Amino acid sequence: MYYVMGIETSCDETSVSIMSSNSEVLSNSTFSQIDIHKKYGGVVPEIASKNHLEKILPVIDSSLTAAKKSIKDIAYICVTNGPGLINCLMIGVATGKSIGLIGNIPVMPINHLEGHIASCFIENKIDFPSICLVASGGHTNLYLLESESNFKLISSTRDDAAGEAFDKGAKILGLGYPGGIEIDRLSKDGSNSFHSFPIADLESDFDFSFSGVKTSLKYYIDKNKNWKKNINSISSSYQEAIIKSLLEKTEKAAMRFKSKNVLFAGGVACNSRLRERAKEIFKARAIFPSNQFCTDNGAMIAMRGLQKIKNEGSKFDNSFPVFSSTKVKPNLDLD
Ligand code: KG4
Ligand code: ZN
Repeated sequence: MYYVMGIETSCDETSVSIMSSNSEVLSNSTFSQIDIHKKYGGVVPEIASKNHLEKILPVIDSSLTAAKKSIKDIAYICVTNGPGLINCLMIGVATGKSIGLIGNIPVMPINHLEGHIASCFIENKIDFPSICLVASGGHTNLYLLESESNFKLISSTRDDAAGEAFDKGAKILGLGYPGGIEIDRLSKDGSNSFHSFPIADLESDFDFSFSGVKTSLKYYIDKNKNWKKNINSISSSYQEAIIKSLLEKTEKAAMRFKSKNVLFAGGVACNSRLRERAKEIFKARAIFPSNQFCTDNGAMIAMRGLQKIKNEGSKFDNSFPVFSSTKVKPNLDLD
């Protein structure tokens, strides 16, 4: 048995987890900056990196303490090196590399999106092939998982991400940040058939587009001066449009690739309506990580690290960089 540390600082969560080699989460300590960025209506990169710098060592300390481990017990350090906010990633990577150098511990770079996918494996046994939807504030991607080491990108969004559509929609409705949580909460007391907000159905089978739906919400609000009295039903209808599009494409991909399980990851996977509808459509095949592993967290980074160690061996070059966005195009020939 050995132990790995997962470090995540790509956006506004400073999160560190200690995981054993049999994937048991011994600790997952997170300092969320949501309250700090709320007043700006979104994440301010420089404020985020400053806070990562202040919190990273205390969060590492509390994660080790909660796991009843010390740095000497750690066999590998796994750290997010992209995609994300460069100055935020640099705090986690520089800290991980420094601890690795002093403690003579190998440090491995982890792709944030692969981390989100791996979050589904923490609490569940996954059969292959499976489809995974990663829906977060910056990404909306579908992947075909053929094994623990083979994740193929099938499609992504042409414009806004699903989480971004929630966040921008919430801003239009005068709600707080992050918008997804607020819209989810208000929707519970509204009717999802109150108004139909259209979502572009692209010719491409699996690609997403969410920039139009927020514009149609803006038009609706501008045209209906008394909209506020229907805010619950407007939220619910807006949410329904996003969820419907996510599920339609995911279902198409699940059928096309004969998916054994259908996985949902990223912050948007916390959405209660998405969970409800996915379980109706996919029944027991639907896999959702618990909420603490959907939003950004160190455990998913540790989990992805473990998968890489087990499947690709453990030779790492400590000179790895950070990167802000993935230039990867869907790598499946979909004819
Ligand atoms: O994965 P995540 O924590 O960070 C990124 O990698 O972006 O996702 C954050 C996103 C935000 O856009 C937030 O509005 C959305 O996840 N989110 C939700 C819910 N909780 C968080 N969206 C819909 N419903 C929710 N309950
Ligand atoms: Zn994320």
